[in-house]
Amino acid sequence: MLQENALVALCETSDVAPDKPLRAEIGPDTYAVFEANGQYYVTDDACTHGPGSLSEGYLDGCIIECPFHQGCFDVRTGQPTLAPCTDAVRTWTAHLRDGKIWIDPKETR
Ligand code: FES
Repeated sequence: MLQENALVALCETSDVAPDKPLRAEIGPDTYAVFEANGQYYVTDDACTHGPGSLSEGYLDGCIIECPFHQGCFDVRTGQPTLAPCTDAVRTWTAHLRDGKIWIDPKETR
């Protein structure tokens, strides 16, 4: 795990593709990293509805479908877009440096 100021590297940009979300871990915390429309987005990997792992879901544009009950979120905002999901999933700003995707785990939005 590389650290630069408060930023922590999650993965290489080349590890992520629109059809290949990535699950990244920092200690006990798990994140889902997405590429959508040429941008990178980071959310909590855990679905707010249940045990689904969003990085294992299906990404359609900026909408991630949870593989567990097929609820959906907008990866840009974390807002739910389809039931049964009703609570937003947390998001972090994806910073790009040196071919890697970084976040500040303590970022508040
Ligand atoms: S666990 Fe994700 S929609 Fe139910």
